[in-house]
Parts: sequence; structure tokens; C-alpha cells
Amino acid sequence: MPDTVRIAVIGAGAVSDYHHVPGIRIDPRAELVAVCDPNQELLARRREEWSPKKATTDYEQIAADPDLDAVIIATPNFTHLPIALACIEGGKHVMCEKPLGLSFADAARMYRAARDRGVRHMTAFTYRFAPSLRYLKHLVRSGMLGEPRHFRSQRFLDLPETSWGWRQYRDKAGAGDLFDMTIHRIDFAQDLLGPISSVTGAVATFAPRDKLADGSACPPSDVDDWSSLIGLFQSGAVGVWEGSTLMKGYHNSGLGYERAEINGSEGSAAYELTDPNHIRIATGGLDMEKKPVPREFLVAPGSPRDPNKGDPSTVFRYDLVYEFVSAILENRDAVPGFDCGARAQAVADAVLESFDKRRWVDVQAPLN
Ligand SMILES: NC(=O)c1ccc[n+]([C@@H]2O[C@H](COP(=O)([O-])OP(=O)(O)OC[C@H]3O[C@@H](n4cnc5c(N)ncnc54)[C@H](O)[C@@H]3O)[C@@H](O)[C@H]2O)c1
Repeated sequence: MPDTVRIAVIGAGAVSDYHHVPGIRIDPRAELVAVCDPNQELLARRREEWSPKKATTDYEQIAADPDLDAVIIATPNFTHLPIALACIEGGKHVMCEKPLGLSFADAARMYRAARDRGVRHMTAFTYRFAPSLRYLKHLVRSGMLGEPRHFRSQRFLDLPETSWGWRQYRDKAGAGDLFDMTIHRIDFAQDLLGPISSVTGAVATFAPRDKLADGSACPPSDVDDWSSLIGLFQSGAVGVWEGSTLMKGYHNSGLGYERAEINGSEGSAAYELTDPNHIRIATGGLDMEKKPVPREFLVAPGSPRDPNKGDPSTVFRYDLVYEFVSAILENRDAVPGFDCGARAQAVADAVLESFDKRRWVDVQAPLN
């Protein structure tokens, strides 16, 4: 069995720089061999910054390159499907950013293609790797909170009201805050509490975003900047989610505010993105108090990452690459896979349908 995974990063923009390349750098089993981006200027810069052996503007070359084992797709949402299908066809293991596609149908197609070709597949649902969320999952599984009853998620960002680039157009992004932010929270809620069976949702758009940062005009946004849903889990638990990119007062150096909480029959516990190495917890009839996350939950098991290094709200994101590479080398499924990406997408699609039709919608996620 090889002991190194030769990786290409496709899409050399913000998230590759922020999460994926640092994740590759700290994993001695991972090698950044190639970078792909159609933006020549950015590609030249990344060649200097990241020192890959190869650089190309054409993802088809990556898909066909025998010197590569795996790809990380971090491109605008509408390009995920064709790039993933080409790389799967080329036999590459694929980690793809969320949302996997513009619809459940896209995401399910990606899942089936990867499954049928026998390659490893992973959806970059970053927040699953936050220490207090990993610990929250342990608390739920071990029964410490009793029977989970309520789930609650709030994700607030205070972003500028100027253009969001490709993210603000439905044909390129699929949806706004719902597909960009809330979809992560749909995913980790399903990871914690099982499938969501039906939803009622709403989205809204407040900022026209018809100007670039320099003041020049651009076509206005046609996606949401606020999203919400109430969901019923198959287990009988209920959940409420709210996300906004326009929540004044929640800038917090760009990190914003996030809290996700579970209330069970025996206790409650909450994760906060701004303090992910602590959990808020109440058991035994006591009030909520802040406690450190036990050491074994601070990094993914086996990860070479030092939990004491770096900003805790940032560094857990490097564990995605560790999981992807581990799955490839250990010949097992990566978690979360494309199946999870597709199931989250089915719920997000149901939110849009619910709001369009002004009624509850049952979630359909047939993957076979
Ligand atoms: N998991 C997370 O927490 C997280 C965070 C941020 C972004 N994302 C996701 O990552 C993806 C990228 O987001 P970003 O913020 O890095 O965007 P970005 O605009 O900064 O970068 C995207 C890059 O992809 C390149 N690109 C476009 N078409 C391409 C193609 N055909 N082949 C190769 N490269 C291509 C662009 O030139 C650009 O450099 C999106 O799907 C987004 O939703 C996820």
C-alpha cells in the first residue's frame, strides 16, 4: 500500500488557501503535487506561494494525470459536478467543497459516480471537525443528554453589502446563505440526530449587492442573504435554524457568531465557533456552564495537528485533509462522504420548495 497521497488542488481561491493547503502541509502523508485554476495571475501567485510541481488552467489535465491520486475541488458551486465527474472518471479520489452541486440531483449523481468507480469521496463539511461539535456528538451518542428533543442553530455574519462575486447568482451558487452557510448546519444536525424528514423554510434577500467593492455597478444578486427552517427529525426531535450574512453587530473580525445547541431529556449542550475548545453543558439538573473539551476530542484521532497551535476557530479545518488522506490510505469510506453532501442538499432543496409553495415539504433523498 502506498504511504503518500499525491494531491491536486482544483480552485486556488480563498478556501484552498485557508483550509486545504495548510491541511496538506501538516500531514506528512499528503503531497501537494498540482494546482489548477483558470485565473492565470492567481495560478502564478500560487505557484510561488505553494510550490506545487505542476500547475495548469485545465482540470481535464488533472483528471487524466497518472501522477495524481486525489483531488480537492474548491471551485464555484456550479463547476463542482463536471469537475468531480471528470476526476472520478480519471480514477481520482475526490474531496469536494459544499454544496456538492446546485441541487440534490447533481449531488446524488456525484455520489453514485464515485461509488460506482470505487474511489473515496468526501464532502468538505468543515464544522463537523470543530472540537466541541465532535464532543457534542460523543455526548449525544453516549446518552449523556438523554433523549435529544430540540436542536437549534444560529449562524450570523456581518458581511459588507457589496458584491459577493459568483456567490450572489443562483445559476452559479444555487442559493445564497442557505447553500453557503446553513447547509453545513443541516449536515451536522443530521450527523448528530439522524435524518430530517420534513421541513418548512423561508429565505429572504435584503441587500441588492449591485455594486462591487470599488463602487462600480454589477448585476444585482438573485439569492438569499437570510435563511431559516424548522425541521422534524425522523427520531421525533425538532430543530430550528437561522442564518444571515447581514447581521449587524456580529462581525467579530469576519468570524461572525455561531452557536448550535441540543436540549435532551437529561441535559443540554452547546458548541460555539468562537470558542470551539470549550463546550457549554448542563446535566444533572444544573444550569449551563462552560467546560473544556476533553483532550481526545481536540483533534481528529491520529491527526498530527498540535491542538495548542494557532487560532482554535481556524485550525480544526485542517483536519479535513487528514480524514481524506486517512480514508484513502486505510481503504475505507471518508466521513462525511458525498452521501452526506447529497442528504444535506436534499434538505436545503426542500427549504426552497417549501418557501416557494408556502407549505411543509417531506425530504426525499433517494441515493441508490
Ligand atoms: N467548507 C467551508 O467551510 C467553505 C468555506 C469557504 C468556501 N467554501 C466553498 O469552497 C468553494 C470555493 O469557495 P472560495 O471562497 O474559495 O471561492 P473563490 O472564488 O475564492 O475561489 C474559487 C476559485 O476557483 C477557480 N475556478 C473557477 N472555475 C474553475 C475551474 N473550472 N477549474 C479550476 N478552478 C476554477 C476560480 O478562478 C477561483 O480562483 C465554494 O464551493 C464554496 O462554497 C467552503
